[in-house]
Amino acid sequence: MRTTSTDVPRPRFHFTPRRHWMNDPNGLVHHGGLWHLYFQHNPEGSDWGNMSWGHAVSPDLEHWTEHPVALRHRVGEQIFSGSVVAPRSGDDVLTAYYTSAYDDGHQAQSRATSHDGGFTWQTDPGNPVLDRGTTAFRDPKVIRYDDDRTARWVMLTVEADDRQVLLYSSDDLVSWEHLSTFGPLGTTGVVWECPDLVRLSLDGDAADPRWVLLLSTNPAGDDADPAGSSMHYVVGHFDGTSFTPDSPELRPLDHGRDYYAAVTFDNAPDGEVVTVGWMSNWRYAHAFPSTPWRGAMSLPRALGLRTVDGRPSLVQAPPAFVRARLEHAPTEPLAVGDSPADLSLSGHSLVELRWDPSSTGVISLQLRGEAGSFVDLVHEPRTGTLRLTRGGPPAESVHPDFPSTSTLPLPGDRPARLLLSVDGPLLEVFVGDGEATASNLVLLGSAGVTASLETARPATVHVTFVGGGGGAGRDAPPPGDPPPPRTTPRAPPPDKQPATT
Ligand code: FRU
Repeated sequence: MRTTSTDVPRPRFHFTPRRHWMNDPNGLVHHGGLWHLYFQHNPEGSDWGNMSWGHAVSPDLEHWTEHPVALRHRVGEQIFSGSVVAPRSGDDVLTAYYTSAYDDGHQAQSRATSHDGGFTWQTDPGNPVLDRGTTAFRDPKVIRYDDDRTARWVMLTVEADDRQVLLYSSDDLVSWEHLSTFGPLGTTGVVWECPDLVRLSLDGDAADPRWVLLLSTNPAGDDADPAGSSMHYVVGHFDGTSFTPDSPELRPLDHGRDYYAAVTFDNAPDGEVVTVGWMSNWRYAHAFPSTPWRGAMSLPRALGLRTVDGRPSLVQAPPAFVRARLEHAPTEPLAVGDSPADLSLSGHSLVELRWDPSSTGVISLQLRGEAGSFVDLVHEPRTGTLRLTRGGPPAESVHPDFPSTSTLPLPGDRPARLLLSVDGPLLEVFVGDGEATASNLVLLGSAGVTASLETARPATVHVTFVGGGGGAGRDAPPPGDPPPPRTTPRAPPPDKQPATT
């Protein structure tokens, strides 16, 4: 059976545009007590085109309010991805850098300023302000660099086809000077997009700062990898001029299929490093059957750097509101015996599982939605891997490359913890404290989700639900998809948060 667009429920605790197409997050900045999210947007349709910057704000990274388009395409020029920086002192002016993608095929960096806290923007009459006369020069990300000797703004951009990141510096956010170039390295046959460079203390030691380069890579050419677009990171050092990687390896940042173009918020409070990514894949984004919107943002994530298996590795924690909800929800021991144990979830739930792989052996969680749609998670302690598969007729009908299996590292020699966030078509999996993540679009429909848990040997699995349809256990009531819930939730569900303007 073919799924239809009405089968895709709108996420409730993730940002989606009220209407029409959305891709990358742009201009992420915290200013005036608000988190601003600009985004690649077609204000006139549900396919990519007329690229402009949409705009939404949130006081808490959970509840978003959409505002009028901030930077609109014009004749001969689209507004591609870029960033915003908050003033560090003096006047209260926000500065945006974005890529002007001209109809003649050339791409260059342009500037705009906002004097009303990010709601309206004035483009610079001198635009473009950084132009190499090339056709894939894009995605300016401006960061602040300060050390004992150097204090400057640094802009990262890509020459996408050359797989290079170009770094520039500025003292006044107006004129820019080339500093250095990083790349190419890693797989050929991809373009590099949406770079970011973040400073993180290794294992929380402020005396040991490292720099992590974030990159989005999209397969290009006739023989393009059907897995499509994905994100990578490189750990290294940055002295304000050049980035030196610890090893010339692009490591996967998310193990699912739908996490792209994530960048960090400028000026986040308390020195937190917070990202948001676009939950789709250029391979099939155009075919995803949601309406009247197309494109969703991930949960915001707090980045950290931890030594895992002897090397500095990125960890991505779920946002504070998710952590708080889980802490306030009851945890129940679920005895899984010779046959599967059923759990009933709403289609908008958080579920945390804790178990001891040495007792359970192989453990699998199967989610079943409408029309034969499924998501399977299987942990194999022996190989230390978690396999995530999505499939069934609705998935097959999106695109031939939509059904997928992804693999994440999940050690089998110590107690395991897994967080699943299911919000309509958005599934995000966090292993442990965020040592690995996987983000996938899923098509489970709107009638709730049945989940069953199986273990190779009888064992206890500890389950925490938020917004579940009724709880754990063989006799759990049937799933519901509030509102209205068909069973009593065990904790308040994540609030409904459609775009409100
Ligand atoms: C990444 C990207 C960027 C570009 C934008 C256009 O997804 O291709 O490189 O600026 O999308 O919408």
